[in-house]
Parts: sequence; structure tokens; C-alpha cells
Amino acid sequence: MVAVLNSVINGAAKLNLLGSLLASVGSEPFSSVTLARVRDNMLNISKASWELGTAAQALTELYTPSLSVFSPSAFPPPSTLNASWTPTHTFNIVNTTLRNKPASSKTLWANQGSAADPASLGTAVLLANWTRTDKRSPWYSSAAQGQLSYLLNDAPRSRAGAISHRANEVQFWSDFVYMVPPFIAYYGALQSDKDLLLEAYNQCRLYRDALQDPSPQLGIPTWRHIVQGSFQDNTHWATGNGWAAAGMMRVLATFNHSSFGSELRKEQANLVDWIDEILVTSWKYQEPNGALHNVINDPTTFTDTSATALIAATTYRLAALTRDFKSVPSANHALSFIQRSLTSDGWLQGTVDPLKFHSPSARGEHSPEGQAFVLLLDAGFRAFKDVVEGGPVVEGSGAVRGGL
Ligand SMILES: *[C@@H]1O[C@H](CO)[C@@H](O)[C@H](O)[C@H]1NC(C)=O
Ligand SMILES: *[C@@H]1O[C@H](CO)[C@@H](O)[C@H](O)[C@H]1NC(C)=O
Ligand SMILES: *[C@@H]1O[C@H](CO)[C@@H](O)[C@H](O)[C@H]1NC(C)=O
Ligand SMILES: *[C@@H]1O[C@H](CO)[C@@H](O)[C@H](O)[C@H]1NC(C)=O
Ligand SMILES: *[C@@H]1O[C@H](CO)[C@@H](O)[C@H](O)[C@H]1NC(C)=O
Repeated sequence: MVAVLNSVINGAAKLNLLGSLLASVGSEPFSSVTLARVRDNMLNISKASWELGTAAQALTELYTPSLSVFSPSAFPPPSTLNASWTPTHTFNIVNTTLRNKPASSKTLWANQGSAADPASLGTAVLLANWTRTDKRSPWYSSAAQGQLSYLLNDAPRSRAGAISHRANEVQFWSDFVYMVPPFIAYYGALQSDKDLLLEAYNQCRLYRDALQDPSPQLGIPTWRHIVQGSFQDNTHWATGNGWAAAGMMRVLATFNHSSFGSELRKEQANLVDWIDEILVTSWKYQEPNGALHNVINDPTTFTDTSATALIAATTYRLAALTRDFKSVPSANHALSFIQRSLTSDGWLQGTVDPLKFHSPSARGEHSPEGQAFVLLLDAGFRAFKDVVEGGPVVEGSGAVRGGL
């Protein structure tokens, strides 16, 4: 599936696009009060390393978008931040994490079982290092170095070089792509280390090689959840596809905004295709009410708001970067579904139980990552809206692909 890069829109098409966007989801899909409730609930129930790493990323994107990798001015971040630009919630997570980390642990979270999940906190640790007030303190920097060194030197690897998702055996999980490559890429962009950027890219490539169904007749281009090792989940788990697409999206944005952007064009083009094939295939299975099923291609499974939110968030992000708008109507539709699935006190209903993978959250239970995905969705929607409202217009050339 080849994404159309740089498709340009003329002024009239742009007004149409904006008009139908705002008509279908409103100019502000979630109020700031609602978002604050979603955030507080998320922080209250997020306990595991990847939940906190995802929460930290969502808070940065939502409250300080200019510090996230989706901003063209992401590299380098300012060395000092004033109060309004300080991602306080993100840095709270970082400080608490490092206070709890035993000095002997190379990873940001000790004894996790997963080789990958603690690294999800790494981007936030690096941002805290870069912007810290005490420039003599090595606290953040040495923690980030330890985490990187564990991934590169200690974690098990496949023969082809893929870093394992698990610490005690080689196993591929689609979740890995959100936890590890964005951290390695961010590290590389900050250090102007092209090899690290390429390592992040190669991990995405190797995970795609491992998790896409091998048989083109039987398979669809979305990814299986877990392969190799002591157990498998061969289903095309929707959340796993969301992790993969959203993780590659962060790597793509990091490449694009790094000092190596113009050199690493082939890698960016491949990442665009790999994200796009997941998005396009997923939306083919979208229900009329906007939802995706917990197993993308199995309509007998329940619908899941978590994955629907994450895949919609990623759709807005890709469209904002590439100006290829063909999947935006599906994302708008999904966003309306998420608006309807959010209670007024800020809980996302209808989530998959993120620890069981294949059953809905029990009555009264909520999904920490699902809460974060609502924030990512809001941030992605806003970035897309900014592009449609303010992005460059090339008069008279091209048209909106797919229309809205
Ligand atoms: C967090 O959860 C606890 C226990 O469920 C509850 O008592 C408390 O009010 C919650 N705090 C916030 C800020 O929502
Ligand atoms: C905070 O810093 C940013 C970036 O340097 C700047 O754009 C913004 O105006 C500053 N805000 C205040 C209140 O000083
Ligand atoms: C995190 O810790 C650093 C170093 O002690 C401190 O300067 C900073 O204010 C803390 N940030 C938050 C949000 O607690
Ligand atoms: C931490 O920040 C300093 C700049 O203050 C930088 O020189 C150092 O390389 C950073 N550490 C990491 C691991 O990025
Ligand atoms: C960033 O990505 C866009 C969309 O794919 C592309 O047109 C542009 O050339 C990229 N910029 C760099 C510096 O690679």
C-alpha cells in the first residue's frame, strides 16, 4: 500500500475539509474539564511501567505539544522551561519512577519481566534531563543511559537482531513497538547519533517481519499480537496494532524533525507505508457506529474503545504529517464513537481488559491505557485541525484524496 505523500489541497477543498471535520466532531471534541477528569482517572489507576510510560507521553502531547516529537521544533528541546511550558504531570511520573528505581537496576523499572516496557518511560526521562534546572545533576541522564545500555547490550535478541519483548526468552509482541523504538529514536535524535535512529528503524522493520502474517493469501497486513517463545497470541489484536502503528508514528516524527530528516528519507517513506497499511486495513473492518473489534478482522469479538481511540489518534497524526487525508473520515467516525463512550466523570467505557487481551474490562473496572489513548486522540485531533486550518495551501493543484 503506497501512501500518497504531499498530496496538496486547494483553498476550496480545504474549507470543505475543515467544515465537514468540525461538523462531524466539533471544534473541541473534549472540553478541558473532561480532559482533566480523564487525566486524573488515568493517573489514579496507572501502576505498571508501560501504563505510566504511555501516560507520560500522552500528557506531554496534550499539555506541552511543542515538546513532543510531533513538533517541528522538537530538537533540541529548550534547555530551560518556564512554568507554562513545564510538563509537570509528565515530570512527576519521571521523578517518582526514578525515586523508586533501585540504584542497581539498569532498567528504569526493576524486575519487570518485560525487556521492553520500562523503556516506555525513557522519552520522558530524556526530556527531563534536557530541560532540568540543576545542570550538574546526572540523575536523569545516567538513568536513561542505563536503560539504553540494557536494551542494546543485555536484553535477549533474535538471530536477526530484534530485541525481545520479554526478559527471559525471545518473544515478539506488537506492544514492543510503542515501548522501545520511540525511546531509542529520541535518544538518537538528541545525541545526533544516526546509528541509534537506524537501530530504532530496524527494530520496527524486524517486528513487522515477525508479526505480519507470512501468507499473503491467509493474512491481512495488520499484525499478530505475540509470536515465538513459550506461548502465542496469533490474533490480530486491535490494541497491538494500535501500539505498533502509534509507536512507528513516533519514530517517523522523530526522524522527520531530527537533524537527519533529509538524509533518512527512504526510512521515512517505509515507515509511512507500514503505518498506513495498519490504518487502512483496520478501518476496513470498522463498524457503522465507528468502533473497531477487539480482534480487528473478527467481527464476532466485542468492540473495543481503547484500540479504536489509539488507531484514530494515529490516523490524525499520520494525516497531519503527510497531508494524505484518505483515512480521516474513519477517524472522525471513531472519534464520535469515543465521545459517546466517555462518561461525564471522565471514564472511557467499553474497553478491553488490557491484561487479559480477549475479554472486556469487568464491570466497574477501567483501562489505564485506554484513558491515555483518549488524551492521545485529543492531541492528535488538535494537531490535525491545526494543519487543516493553518497548514500551507498550494493553490490549484491536487484535491483531497478520498474526500470527507
Ligand atoms: C483515586 O482513587 C481512590 C480509590 O478509588 C479514590 O478514593 C480517590 O478519590 C481517587 N482520586 C482521584 C483524584 O480521582
Ligand atoms: C515560555 O517559554 C516559551 C518558549 O521559550 C515561550 O514561547 C513562552 O512565551 C513563554 N511563556 C511565558 C509565560 O513566559
Ligand atoms: C523533579 O525533580 C527535580 C530534581 O529534584 C526537580 O527540580 C523538579 O522540580 C521535580 N519536578 C516535579 C514535577 O516534581
Ligand atoms: C542530558 O543533558 C545534557 C545537556 O544538559 C546532555 O549533554 C546529555 O547528553 C544528556 N544525556 C542524555 C542521555 O541524553
Ligand atoms: C517530513 O515528512 C513529510 C511527509 O512525509 C515529507 O514531505 C518531508 O520531506 C519530511 N521532511 C524531512 C526533512 O524529511
